[in-house]
Amino acid sequence: MSLTEFSASASLAPRSLSLPKVTMPALAEMKRQGKPISALTAYDYATARLVDEAGIDLILVGDSLAMVVLGYENTLAVTVDEMLHHTRAVHRGVHRALVVADMPFGSYHGSVSEGVANAVRFIKEAGAEAVKIEGPRVELVRALVEAEVPVIGHLGLTPQSVHRMGGYRVQGRTVDSAMQLQSDAFALARAGAGAIVLEGIPREAAGAITAALPVPTIGIGAGPDCDGQILVFHDLVNLTFAPPAKFVRRYGDASALFRSAVEHYREDVEHHAFPSDAESYHLPESARQLFSLDPDVTGARDNPDAAANPDAVVNVDAREEMAEETNQG
Ligand code: KIV
Repeated sequence: MSLTEFSASASLAPRSLSLPKVTMPALAEMKRQGKPISALTAYDYATARLVDEAGIDLILVGDSLAMVVLGYENTLAVTVDEMLHHTRAVHRGVHRALVVADMPFGSYHGSVSEGVANAVRFIKEAGAEAVKIEGPRVELVRALVEAEVPVIGHLGLTPQSVHRMGGYRVQGRTVDSAMQLQSDAFALARAGAGAIVLEGIPREAAGAITAALPVPTIGIGAGPDCDGQILVFHDLVNLTFAPPAKFVRRYGDASALFRSAVEHYREDVEHHAFPSDAESYHLPESARQLFSLDPDVTGARDNPDAAANPDAVVNVDAREEMAEETNQG
């Protein structure tokens, strides 16, 4: 167990504390004002807190966690219970950003009522403020809005359709398919989707949809003309163990940082360089003198063989005396 403190007072005043809470209506307002929406994924308390404190507007607990956190080949295996578990952790770390939970594959594909029931769990049990679903599921979006569950759509390269698409391929490359995307986006917006993620589509198509749509678009691999941008946190900081996709920009190298920290720690342990005396707890001087494991008392410092023989080093009376003193405070 770590005794490290995680309380809010432990950090310097984060940017998020001085900014108002982000809500679904606030996203619409940002589009109206032409203010870009910043979004990132997060999957646990610590990263959610960092992302929120940096002032990111929207945090998606993406089903990409199946790949970047759980090590699966694609996003399909992650379950509702696993997504709930991670969403709860993220919710606990967030103060200002809008927390959006990704509905995993299979949790809304069977029927609209099953989709609504699962979505309600994310709001009720995990603290999500909206859910995201993939594909042009207009009827489901309508039912979610009816059930007071804010919803964000996701069109274009939708990773849950990997088998149908035959891989992760850019979508909307022809006029017909781009027009289909535009009409799907409009249908979702009309049904009540509060925003739409556009993933893996040509810049021109994303720009045209963004300009025409009444709700914000949030792009990933969709060029700079969307109302906002989202990236996977692990892509941003190089924690994916794979070459980045074309649209990823690495803003840091956590992989190098973690690797060097862990290697350095291992070397220090192997060379008895960690922990130091200053990193150790100490008995008060009086108790130290009495305590029989003190190498000055036992002679273990001069005679290391004595330390190997418990009878030679354990002074039970002194130890009990010290324990009593400690218990009494
Ligand atoms: O699961 C995910 O991370 C996503 C996005 C990055 C849009 O769906």
